[in-house]
Amino acid sequence: MNSNVIKEKTLVTKRNETTEGRKIEHILICLSKDVEAKEKTTGLNDIEFVHVSLPEINKTDVDISIKLLGHELSAPIVIAAMTGGHPEAAKINATLAEAAQKLNIAMGVGSQRAALEDPSLEYTYSIAREKAPDILLIGNIGAPQILDENRIETIRKVVDMIDANAVAIHLNALQEAIQPEGEVTFKGVISAIEDITRKIKVPIIAKETGAGVAREEAILLEKVGVKAIDIGGTGGTSWAAVETYRAENRGMKLAASIGRTFWDWGIPTAISTIEAAYFTNNVEIIATGGVRTGLDAAKLLSIGANAVGISLPLLKPAYEGKVEKVVQILRKIIEELKIAMFLVGASKINDLKKADIIITGKTAEWLKARGFDIVTFANRRKQNWRK
Ligand SMILES: Cc1cc2nc3c(=O)[nH]c(=O)nc-3n(C[C@H](O)[C@H](O)[C@H](O)COP(=O)(O)O)c2cc1C
Repeated sequence: MNSNVIKEKTLVTKRNETTEGRKIEHILICLSKDVEAKEKTTGLNDIEFVHVSLPEINKTDVDISIKLLGHELSAPIVIAAMTGGHPEAAKINATLAEAAQKLNIAMGVGSQRAALEDPSLEYTYSIAREKAPDILLIGNIGAPQILDENRIETIRKVVDMIDANAVAIHLNALQEAIQPEGEVTFKGVISAIEDITRKIKVPIIAKETGAGVAREEAILLEKVGVKAIDIGGTGGTSWAAVETYRAENRGMKLAASIGRTFWDWGIPTAISTIEAAYFTNNVEIIATGGVRTGLDAAKLLSIGANAVGISLPLLKPAYEGKVEKVVQILRKIIEELKIAMFLVGASKINDLKKADIIITGKTAEWLKARGFDIVTFANRRKQNWRK
């Protein structure tokens, strides 16, 4: 789409300060501006597989199917939560859902708050289930929205709206703190999540949105009963960035300047994946945030993720309603993942967790400071050494 048209739309939309107006503004900003981390990376550039020159498998043996939250997926990929709550979002969700159904992968809809506030917007989310009757479809609501006592009713509505197989409670303290009208109420979120996991049957996912989850919070989240953690790490889409642009659109110079300060705040995706995966036993880890290639995915699956999540690269083709383009982007990622697996002799996703990986640079420094032994990662095949 022509970036001038997007700019125009953004300016018009900015006057609409409802949840619905905010949603479309977020999309238009993500389509027209550079919203990714600037200086910080996912940490995946610090991670390398040790190549296996004798993989002793055929590439056709590589099987990337997995089970996530009890559902069989043909690839370990989740189209990560993006949208809903605006007529334009209906097209995006329909397009993404059609692609997900075609590839038998999972998908999350964006925050359903807009439809809770205005039920006439429900169709912008439920269209995903219409287009993808068989996939693992994940509902979405923000942590600040589960603090009141109606939370169980809220989650039930979220599930019913899209016939959700799981619900993600998104943790976006960074975004709320930068957003001019942000809700910075996070006291009580842990016990609210526990209340929900006890009373709601569908699995609950705790989902960060770009600042990552540290091991301390991962342990806590497992304790209160979440079944999966989407670590939503730093290195991909930055919500501080998106809110910086929103503040700029409104001439709010101070808010924009604060947003720029926190642009790269957070735990890089690779580090957060390791922190969360190595200190939990019964939660599945979805690694989202800056996953751009199948090699990125292979690395994350190798360091503890059960699946990876992808948002931003799919937004533009989805906005344009191009199902085939979305499928093509995902097929490339799938092919790259298969090649990486072949090159380390991994015929199943779980075999990636036995591959040797070298961790260098800032990522290694961070992990060492947090007590991880990076030598172990580099020598995972050692038990097979011949004397
Ligand atoms: C336009 C857009 C809207 C998003 N809306 C939501 C949302 O409503 N709820 C949520 O949990 N995450 C939301 N996210 C965050 C993504 O699910 C994901 O965690 C993040 O974008 C990092 O992945 P990426 O680097 O592949 O974009 C949104 C992302 C984008 C790009």
